Amino acid sequence: MLHGKRILLIVAGGIAAFKSLELIRRLRERGAAVRCVLTDAGARFVTPLSLQALSEDRVYGDMFSLTDESEMGHIQLSRDADLLVVAPATANILARMAAGLADDLAATVLLATDKPVLAAPAMNVRMWTHAATVANVEILKKRGVTFVGPNDGAMACNEHGPGRMSEPAEIVAAVESMLVATQRPLAGKRALVTSGPTREAIDPVRYISNHSSGKQGHAIAAALARLGAEVTLVSGPVAVGDPAGLRTVHVESADQMLAACLAAGRVDVAVCAAAVADWKAAKPAGAKIKKKTGTQPPAIELTPNPDILATLSKPGPGRPALVVGFAAETEDLVANAIAKRSRKGCDWIVANDVSPATGTFGGERNTVHLVSAEGVEAWPTLAKGDVADRLAARIALHLGRPRSAEAAE
Ligand SMILES: Cc1cc2nc3c(=O)[nH]c(=O)nc-3n(C[C@H](O)[C@H](O)[C@H](O)COP(=O)(O)O)c2cc1C
Repeated sequence: MLHGKRILLIVAGGIAAFKSLELIRRLRERGAAVRCVLTDAGARFVTPLSLQALSEDRVYGDMFSLTDESEMGHIQLSRDADLLVVAPATANILARMAAGLADDLAATVLLATDKPVLAAPAMNVRMWTHAATVANVEILKKRGVTFVGPNDGAMACNEHGPGRMSEPAEIVAAVESMLVATQRPLAGKRALVTSGPTREAIDPVRYISNHSSGKQGHAIAAALARLGAEVTLVSGPVAVGDPAGLRTVHVESADQMLAACLAAGRVDVAVCAAAVADWKAAKPAGAKIKKKTGTQPPAIELTPNPDILATLSKPGPGRPALVVGFAAETEDLVANAIAKRSRKGCDWIVANDVSPATGTFGGERNTVHLVSAEGVEAWPTLAKGDVADRLAARIALHLGRPRSAEAAE
C-alpha cells in the first residue's frame, strides 16, 4: 500500500529510538523507501549503522557536511520525500519545531518542508503533560502537523501514563492513512454517517437518551470528507461542533434520524455510529407530566424505535455498497458484535467496549474490533481521530476494489 512512497524518518534522542528500527522494517515491507535523519541525541540511542543497514540508504545528521550538502542538501532531503515522520518525537524537537528553530539538520529540514509531517511523541509522562509541551503540541496541530499517540502504559523511567511512543504498526497505519488522504481516494463517492445519541421524548421537558458524545461518529465523517467523499452527517444532540467540509443534518429522535438518512439519497457507504435509543415512549405526553404527592410515579410504556442500521442494510438496488454498524457493548464484545452483524445484515461492525471503566463514552480514545466476513481484527487503543482515519482508509480501500474482489469476500 506504500509502494513508490518516500518517507523521511527523523529519529530524535529518546529511549523509544530503538522502535524506529522496527518502524523502518515495517515501512519498507509495505513498499516505502525510507531515508533517515538522526539527531546528535538520537545517535546516543541508535547507531547510524543500524539505520543505514535497515533503510539501505545513507543516514544524514550533519548540517555542515560538505559532501552531504553537495550531494543531498537539507532542502533536497524534504523535497525528495512524500511525508516526514518524526519518531520518536522528543519534547525537545517538538519545542524546536514549535519555535521555528533551525539549529540542526533535523529541525532545519522540518522548517524548510512543505510536505505533511507526522509526529510520534515519546517522553516521560510529566514532560508530556507539562504546560510547555501541551502548548507546543497545540501550536503544531494548528499548523497541520499530525500526531500519532502517545499511548498510555509503563515507561522506561518506571512511571505509568501517557508518553509511550505508539507501536510501529500504529505509526505505519497513521502513515498509510495520511498518504492515502493526499490521494483523495473517495472523490466522487457519497457517504452517510450517523453520530451521537437520540432523544426520545417522554413529555415536552423529559426524554430518554444515552451518554454518546458524537466524538467518534463526527471524527469518521470528517475523515471520510478528508479522503474526498461527499458526506452527509446526521447528528443527534451533541456538544461537539459541526465538522468542516461536509453537510450536517441535526435531529433529535430515532424517527427523525431515519427520515434524515433516507432523505440523504443513494450513498456508496453508510456508517451508523449513532447510539440510537432502542425504545421510545409509546405515547409521549403532550404536556409536562405533573408530579402528584402521595401517588405512584407514572409508568412509561415503551415501544421499539425503527432499526436504522437494519433498514439501511436491507438488500435492494438502493443499498449502499458498504454498510458499517457500531456495536457498543459492556460484555461479550466480540461475540455480540458477530451476532449483530448477521442479525442486521450489515457488512462490517465496529465493536467498542463502553463499560464505564473504559471511559469510551465521552472520552478521547477508543479500543475497537473490526468484524467483517473476513474475520475479527483487534485494533490497538487509539485516539478517536486515529480510529476514524484508519476506518476511512479501510473504507477507501474496500470501495476502490474491483467488483470481483468484493463478490469473493
Ligand atoms: C537516558 C535518556 C533517555 C531520554 N529519553 C527521552 C525521551 O524518551 N523523550 C524525550 O523527549 N527526551 C528524552 N531524553 C532527553 C533528550 O535526549 C534530550 O532532550 C535531547 O536534547 C533531545 O534532543 P533531540 O530532540 O535533538 O534529539 C532522554 C535523555 C536520556 C539521557
